[in-house]
Formats: sequence, C-alpha cells, structure tokens
Amino acid sequence: MTGDRLARTPPMGWNSWNAHSCAVTEADVRAAADALVDTGLRDVGYEYVVVDDCWMAGETDDAGRLRADPDAFPSGMAALADYVHDRGLKFGIYSSAGSHTCQGYPATLGRERRHAEQFADWGVDYLKYDNCGDHRGRDAVDRYGAMGEALRAVDRDIVYSICEWGESAPWAWGRNVGGQLWRVTDDAVAKWTTGDEFGLGIADIVDRVAELDIAAAQAPGGWNDPDMLQVGNGPESGQSRHEPTDIERPLSPVENRTHFAFWCLLGAPLMVGTDLTDARGDVLDLLTNEHLVAIDQDPLGLQGTPDRREPTREVWSKRLRDGAAVALWNRGEAPADIRVHVDETSVPTAGDRYAVLDCWTGERWESLGELSATVEPRGTAVFRVTPGDYSAASSTS
Ligand code: GLA
Repeated sequence: MTGDRLARTPPMGWNSWNAHSCAVTEADVRAAADALVDTGLRDVGYEYVVVDDCWMAGETDDAGRLRADPDAFPSGMAALADYVHDRGLKFGIYSSAGSHTCQGYPATLGRERRHAEQFADWGVDYLKYDNCGDHRGRDAVDRYGAMGEALRAVDRDIVYSICEWGESAPWAWGRNVGGQLWRVTDDAVAKWTTGDEFGLGIADIVDRVAELDIAAAQAPGGWNDPDMLQVGNGPESGQSRHEPTDIERPLSPVENRTHFAFWCLLGAPLMVGTDLTDARGDVLDLLTNEHLVAIDQDPLGLQGTPDRREPTREVWSKRLRDGAAVALWNRGEAPADIRVHVDETSVPTAGDRYAVLDCWTGERWESLGELSATVEPRGTAVFRVTPGDYSAASSTS
C-alpha cells in the first residue's frame, strides 16, 4: 500500500536486538509487549514491537518462504503478531536485502514479493531491512527498491525501515524507494565512544550526524535513523555480549540522559533496546520524559543541527512548531557553564521575550534571549524555548 501516510512522526517502539541479540525467543517478545503496557511506555507513544535478526529457521520452505525458528518461535509469527496487536501495539519483523541476514539466516533478495506477502499475511506492520548477505552484484537502490515495490503491492501498511548503515547515502534515495526511515551510521553500541572496535559510541554517533550534514533529508514520513537506543544498556545486554566491542560498564545515568536527549533533538526514531522486564526506574523515567518525547515527535519533523561546536561545549537546536529546543552539551570531564543567545540558534526571534522550559525539571521562566546552564560532565541541558511571554506558552507542551 502507499506509504504516504506512514510515520508522519518518528517511529517509536522496542526492538529485540540490543536487548537479546541472537538469543531472542517469542517469550522475550511477548514479555516486551507486556512491559511496554505495564511501564506506561505504550501510553507515551512506543508502539512497534520489532523482532530483529534470528527469528527465522535455518532453511526456507520449498517455495522460498521464510519459516519461524521452531524452537525459539514455536507458535509462529502470526500468533506473535496477534499477541502484540491484542495489547494495542504494532508488530515488526526483520530481513535483509541479500542472500542472508547478518547472522547467516535465509533472507529476502530475489524473493521480495513472496516475503512481503508473507509478512502482510502474518499481520506485520514494520519491516527492518538489513544489508547483509550476498548482494548478487545489485546496488543498494536496486535491492531496497525491489522491497519497497513489494511492500507497496501488498494490502497492508508496513513501515519500511532501511538498515543500510549509511553506506550509499540512503538519505538521498530512501524516501524514493518507499522507506520511512534509513540508518545513517554503523551500529550503536552501549558505550560513550569506541576506538577501532566494532560499532560507534553515543558521542561518536552525534559527531557522525554533525559531519554528515543531512538534516535537509528529514521531514514527516522520512527519517534519518542514528540507530536504536542503547539507553539502559551495558556489558550484560544481548548485543554487548554478542559483538566484539569491549564494554566495561553500563552507560552512566548522565550518558543515558545525553543519549536520549540527542535522539529526541535529532527527531530520531526511538526504538528502545533495553530489556524492559528488568529496567531501572531512572531508565523508565527517562524514556517517558514527556518534554523530550514531545521534541522528538514535533509535527514539523525537522532534525536538530549544531549551532556551535567547541572541544568541550556544544550548542544544538531544533526548530519546533511553536519555537525550538536548545541543547547545551558539556563534552568535558568537569562541570561547565554554557551560555547562548537565542539569536545563535533555531529559535524564531520575532519577539523580544521567550518562555523557557527546562526539559529535565519541568521548571519554566521567562528570558530576554539569554540561555545558560551549569552542565555536569557529559551532560546536556535541554530547553524548550517559545517566543512570547511565559503565560502565553505555559499551556503548551
Ligand atoms: C546489523 C544491523 C543491526 C542488527 C544486526 C542483526 O548489524 O545493523 O541493527 O539488526 O545486523 O544481525
């Protein structure tokens, strides 16, 4: 079906990969669906429950159709989709635009129609489509285009998540092949920065997004995807154990906060990647921070961009329907005073006074344009700034 109505705001949900990696079972997915309801995450907008790699059996059937792994998913994918739908959520699945998935399971290249029909029959609402396996000499636009066409041909709305890691500039063609989101980097790992290891840390991804300078590619219905959230994760999470990256400790509370704040400021898809059956209260509070989620889900759909980048102090902002979000990031190892005037940011500067909301504390005040904060090491102050006086803005957001 036509995807024009899909993902008008960045998709939100949960994906199995970062939490469970290749050991995922249907019990894990059901537990995640239940947890989205019980924790209140569903009610703030997290709606897709996506099973990543390793759900399929090692062989297709004789017609080349994918089969669920009989041990890990004994009830089958249609039953799992029903379970997810019964909880008011949507169901997502994974395959790859190659002969095999990244973990070596059968994938979709050359069988796009058949698999799209299977997915539609099962009640799939979201497809994450990876870039592993043999490409048989076909370029990315051709391979991702074939699946986009197959998804358009089935009688079901399926969000198309292009996971091509930014290798052939998917921001330039992702929308044209029917995609609603496209990965722009390598995989995120649960670490602040990585060196030559597998994957990118949180700060590395923000740097990469700044360098790519692709904000113009993003608008409602088409999202730059800096990868799934590692909020709440550390050495014990599934992906950390699976990948070769050396992860010594969990992301700290302040690193989690900066990570989530930046994904919201970027207007990124928010796919939770932690085990929600075991998540700490501060992690759940962060993921449900209504002020940040509102910045992510702002109807204009713009990507935040850097206004100022210094070695330890950065200022980023994102224009919103009624003003802008401004983030002051301390990349250093000591507390830092960071100040900026709204003139230097995306805040519309028609007026002479601004209502300011601190997205961490919920405090509100009025400013003549100056914004400042003492920011803890690796921390980020986030303000929602609305032209006009405090009383005019205090009823919104
Ligand atoms: C790739 C993707 C990840 C995940 C794994 C699964 O690395 O980028 O997001 O889907 O494959 O094998």
